[in-house]
Amino acid sequence: MARDRRDTYYWRAKDEGYRSRAAYKLFQINEKHEVIKEGDTIVDLGAAPGGWLEVAKKISGGKIVGVDLRRIKEIEGVDTIKGDITSDETIKKIIEMVGEGGADVVICDAAPNLSGNWSLDHARSIDLTTSALECAKKILKPKGHFIVKVFQGDMFKEYMDKVRESFTYTRAFSPKASRQESAEIYVIGKKLLTAPFKIDDKFDVTIKKIGSKGNGIAFVEDFVVFMQDEVKKGENVRIKIVDVKPEFAFAIVIGRYDEELKDKNEE
Ligand SMILES: C[S@@+](CC[C@H](N)C(=O)[O-])C[C@H]1O[C@@H](n2cnc3c(N)ncnc32)[C@H](O)[C@@H]1O
Repeated sequence: MARDRRDTYYWRAKDEGYRSRAAYKLFQINEKHEVIKEGDTIVDLGAAPGGWLEVAKKISGGKIVGVDLRRIKEIEGVDTIKGDITSDETIKKIIEMVGEGGADVVICDAAPNLSGNWSLDHARSIDLTTSALECAKKILKPKGHFIVKVFQGDMFKEYMDKVRESFTYTRAFSPKASRQESAEIYVIGKKLLTAPFKIDDKFDVTIKKIGSKGNGIAFVEDFVVFMQDEVKKGENVRIKIVDVKPEFAFAIVIGRYDEELKDKNEE
C-alpha cells in the first residue's frame, strides 16, 4: 500500500487555502533570504498547480506571471502561460507579458518527471535548472533575484558555480517544508550581474581617470572597472578582472604597455 504522504504542511495548506504544501517552502526561503518584496514583478517557472503563485502574489502584490506545461487554474491578479520553459517561444511570450523593464524575481520549482533512478533524475534536474537559469538571465532586470529547485548529485557544484558567475550573492538552502528524504535543495542567486565579462577575463585598457579614493578607472564596454594597483591617468595597461559587482568591477594590472614601449625605445 502506498505510504500516506500527507503531513503537517499538507494539512496547513488545506486549512489556510493554498493550492500546494510547496507554498510553505517559498515562505521559508523568503523569510531566510529576503528575495521577494512588496511591489515586485515575479515570474514563476513550472508553477502548477499554483501554490508559489499564491505566495508570490501575497508577498508582492505586484505583477505575477506563472508558466507551466500544464494549465494553471485561474488565480486572481496572476497571468499564466501554458508552455515549456526550455523553449524560445515560451521565453518570448514571458518577455512580452512582463514588459521591457524585466522581472524583479524569477522563481522556479519546476521538476522533471522522476524515474526513481537517482542519477538519471539528477541529470534531468540539472538540464531543467540550467534552462531556468538561462531563461532567468533573459527576463530579469539588472540586480534581479533568482530561486531555483535542484535535485542534488555530483553535478550540483558545477551548477552552483554557474549561478555564482551570474549573481553577486549565491546560497543553497533547505527549507523545513522540504521532505526529509527529499534530494531537493533550493539555490538562491541575488543581484544579477550585468557586466560584459567575468572573473579572470583579461583586457587591454587605457586608464581614463583617477577616482576620489585614488583608484584608476577604466571602462570595458561602458562598464566601470577600478584598478587595485597604482596606475596613472592615460596609462595603457593589461588588466585581469578579480571581482565583479552589479555596477562595477575590480581588476589587477598584469601588464604595462607604456613601460614596455619605453623599454623598447631606450634600447
Ligand atoms: C513541483 S511542481 C511546482 C509546484 C508549485 N511550485 C506550487 O507551489 O504549486 C513542478 C511543476 O514543474 C512543471 N514543469 C516541469 N518541466 C517543465 C517545463 N519544461 N516547462 C514548464 N513547466 C515544467 C511541471 O509540469 C509541474 O507542474
